[in-house]
Amino acid sequence: MLNACTSPDFAVFDVVVLASGRGSNFAALLGAQQRGELPIRIHALLSDKFAAPALDIARAAGIAAIAVTPRDFPDRAAFDRALFAQAALLQPDLIVLAGYMRMIDAAVVQAWAGKIINIHPSLLPKYPGLRTHQRALDAGDAVHGASVHFVTAQLDGGPVFAQARMPILAGDTADTLAARLLPLEHRLLAASVGLIARGRIARDGDGVTLDGVRLDAPLQLQDDATLRAVG
Ligand code: GRF
Repeated sequence: MLNACTSPDFAVFDVVVLASGRGSNFAALLGAQQRGELPIRIHALLSDKFAAPALDIARAAGIAAIAVTPRDFPDRAAFDRALFAQAALLQPDLIVLAGYMRMIDAAVVQAWAGKIINIHPSLLPKYPGLRTHQRALDAGDAVHGASVHFVTAQLDGGPVFAQARMPILAGDTADTLAARLLPLEHRLLAASVGLIARGRIARDGDGVTLDGVRLDAPLQLQDDATLRAVG
């Protein structure tokens, strides 16, 4: 089926988004889709938190909003199987973790290898996990940023294919870094999903290809919101 809002060159690419909280990255992806900038259809927003504001964003847009709580399951693996079974019903081409704040069972991740990406607020491999802005400050870094990577069983450890960079300025705090990075994250995520939906980016074992050629470094977000290889 073709998406009437976008170029007829591209078939619709079905996306499911997982988010645990605010949902601004989800909202950015949705906005890009609604403006016809991405050849995707967002099928559903899934959350591990009943009160996640991201669910309200989905409902307001008429998108399925599905919450599953870990409390209803005996362990993490059982919860992950249930959540991803919900996603599987929608037969997505891609699952996007956009502020999804839980580790995912290795077997569940493996079943979606190459079809699940995550956005993380650091220049991976620096600072996997939490408190990334403070850790960049504490390390005295001059540059900070965000990364998009294919998800593997290793926390924030799968192959990175796109990054956005920004300088750390005198007087920056974790809060100012987070605030300045967020709009870059939004553009980074939309551009990344766009490349995957257009079949240009694909996972290739422990690496990633762009137009069939193995990337030797992550693409970098440009001022015009495109992603480019920088040599
Ligand atoms: C973002 O910084 C994302 O990179 C991180 O969690 C935050 C989620 O923000 N993993 P939002 O829910 O998309 O507004």
